[in-house]
Amino acid sequence: MRLCLASAFVAAAAMASHLNNSSGVIVEGPFPQDLHGSNFTYPFPIKLFRFSSQNQPLEMAFMDLAPTPSLKRQKVAVLLHGKNFCAATWGETASVLQAQGYRVILPDQVGFCKSSKPRDYQFSLPQLALNTFSLLHALNITESDEVTIVGHSLGGMLAIRFTLLYPDMATNLVLTNPIGLEDYLAEGVPYLDISAHLASEAETNYASIKAYEQATYYQGDWIEDYDVWARMLSAVYAGSEREAFLEAQARVVDMVLTQPVANDVSRVKTKRGVLLVVGTKDTTAIGKQWSPPNVAKRLGKFNALGKATQTKIANCTLVEFEDSGHAPQIQDPERFNGALLKWLKR
Ligand SMILES: *[C@@H]1O[C@H](CO)[C@@H](O)[C@H](O)[C@H]1NC(C)=O
Ligand SMILES: *[C@@H]1O[C@H](CO)[C@@H](O)[C@H](O)[C@H]1NC(C)=O
Ligand SMILES: *[C@@H]1O[C@H](CO)[C@@H](O)[C@H](O)[C@H]1NC(C)=O
Ligand SMILES: *[C@@H]1O[C@H](CO)[C@@H](O)[C@H](O)[C@H]1NC(C)=O
Ligand SMILES: *[C@@H]1O[C@H](CO)[C@@H](O)[C@H](O)[C@H]1NC(C)=O
Repeated sequence: MRLCLASAFVAAAAMASHLNNSSGVIVEGPFPQDLHGSNFTYPFPIKLFRFSSQNQPLEMAFMDLAPTPSLKRQKVAVLLHGKNFCAATWGETASVLQAQGYRVILPDQVGFCKSSKPRDYQFSLPQLALNTFSLLHALNITESDEVTIVGHSLGGMLAIRFTLLYPDMATNLVLTNPIGLEDYLAEGVPYLDISAHLASEAETNYASIKAYEQATYYQGDWIEDYDVWARMLSAVYAGSEREAFLEAQARVVDMVLTQPVANDVSRVKTKRGVLLVVGTKDTTAIGKQWSPPNVAKRLGKFNALGKATQTKIANCTLVEFEDSGHAPQIQDPERFNGALLKWLKR
């Protein structure tokens, strides 16, 4: 009996070390145009990371740009998309970084875009960070490389969690209008059952995405460069994996509400520093739509959140764009990419 118990603990320890990061295989395309319910044409070739997570076989789609020119010491940029976007949205920034000698990795997270949409998945920020970390290891990217983690919106919240979990994998951290700079439930957002998020995800379509983004991201403007991303997203809502996508996205909303990073940002540690880029006209706050007016009115004030967050993070440079909303890299790519490169070359 005693022997039995002891070996159970040994087995558990071995398993824990095995599961620290998931091993998987990289599969090269070409793949069908409609991959896991997204038919959008990505700007660079797609590869798949096939791995196992929560005892399910999963596929994470990603792009991997080789640096031109290539440098002696590998410099890597990992670009993390927001909830209403995909890896493809970072295409222009990826090309700019590639031309500066960076190897650029652009993953679609599990539950999004061209990646698997498992029905019974415990969505958590540490889980998505682990998936990303495992992908990097499968690509032979390690702590000895210079790695810049870049995240927009939900991708920024994920980048913060990634850096907290794997500080040795973050030489630089770049956050662009990250969500989660405030703890929404603590601020008074009423907690809703996941089924409520599922109902609102089910109502999402091209018109609702356009109306929301036009107001919150682009101050009433709407041009082809914004429209392309609304069409990319609405095609997933209307696509071949619609039901699984709605379920995943409802769980993602719950993840954002229940797993705040706001109180942890002061523990963020990087090898070189943090760049926080903020379009100060942004008013994004998860749960604001169903909050009472007195709660809603104090949420999502990016004109104050950037400055407040900068004081909490060590080595943090703040760049504010006063005429941009939630997506400064889409609204003014040249200015965004310029600020990014200037900081990276500091
Ligand atoms: C898990 O990964 C981290 C980050 O690379 C490493 O520091 C740690 O030693 C690993 N733990 C185990 C049990 O393998
Ligand atoms: C897991 O992470 C450790 C520490 O960074 C690394 O040495 C190891 O190769 C990784 N394992 C896999 C299977 O990727
Ligand atoms: C991984 O990278 C190291 C150095 O960065 C290199 O020596 C090694 O050959 C690479 N392995 C593979 C499989 O790419
Ligand atoms: C993708 O699907 C949407 C809606 O299902 C359709 O309108 C669009 O033309 C498709 N795009 C491609 C590139 O196949
Ligand atoms: C701040 O940056 C320096 C290098 O410039 C680094 O050594 C230090 O660890 C950083 N501190 C944090 C908390 O990230």
